[in-house]
Amino acid sequence: MLSQKHLLGLENVKKSDIELLLDTAESFKEIMDRDVKKVPTLRGKSIVNLFYEPSTRTRTSFELAGKYLSADTINFTSSASSVRKGESLKDTAKTLEMMGVDAVIIRHSSSGAASYLTRHVSASVINAGDGTHEHPTQALLDMLTVRERKGTLSGLKVAIIGDILHSRVARSNIFGFTKMGSEVYVAGPSTLMLPDIEQTGAKLAETIEEAVKDADVVIALRIQLERQQKALFPTIREYARLFGLNRDKLALARPDALLLHPGPVNRGIELTSEIIDGPQSVINQQVRSGVAVRMSVLYHLIGGSR
Ligand code: CP
Repeated sequence: MLSQKHLLGLENVKKSDIELLLDTAESFKEIMDRDVKKVPTLRGKSIVNLFYEPSTRTRTSFELAGKYLSADTINFTSSASSVRKGESLKDTAKTLEMMGVDAVIIRHSSSGAASYLTRHVSASVINAGDGTHEHPTQALLDMLTVRERKGTLSGLKVAIIGDILHSRVARSNIFGFTKMGSEVYVAGPSTLMLPDIEQTGAKLAETIEEAVKDADVVIALRIQLERQQKALFPTIREYARLFGLNRDKLALARPDALLLHPGPVNRGIELTSEIIDGPQSVINQQVRSGVAVRMSVLYHLIGGSR
């Protein structure tokens, strides 16, 4: 049984809980292969997707995950809600609380929004990305994708490349992969590097090439222009030339290295189309893992195991 009620990040999740979530996700993939993708596990439970920022993958996969497990899922987008009329997050949370929901999945531009919500609802809260803090289910699906291909996460060299400063995906992946025994290297523009990065457990590489060399896994990050208050690199073209990954840079990794990206990808900027669609890319498999991981998280937080 999972030792917590909420999933706010991976920083404080135990290795055994990560293993449990990944093992369950792996078994749930079988349901996704069926003609009738439905089991009664969460019948009678209700789940709200509370998204204050845009999303394609996370919102849709949480919705599908809930539906495959027979939960009632409701989508709340801030642009089509009373948030437009000035309602606060706390009042929105109280409204959902009175409706009796079992789980609230929240994406918000403020770091800490998911944690804040736990003080105002009795439902389980799942962080679907809060500001630059964490995006735990993204890291879980990345780890599941890699574990399926490599058989283990222990002893792997994982390179995370790009906008580390603004990336909640990078933070969750650093916490997750290091807990599972991988060695995580980060590289990117110095203006987009997290101060004290090594306190997270990651190792700072001087160059992209150093990070990627002999890596088993290469994770490229999206540049997050929406979180940059000022220009932190000269031009997009310059970024692509210096920090984007192409076939030559990827060739420095091990021949069987996997290439991941959380999406949405800016083609030709973070990655060339050639490697996005190439044999080492597991970007499509990540999307599939995303549904299974979210089924697992919902099951363990509001389902039978709890
Ligand atoms: N990776 C990710 O969070 O994608 P979305 O923004 O589409 O949910």
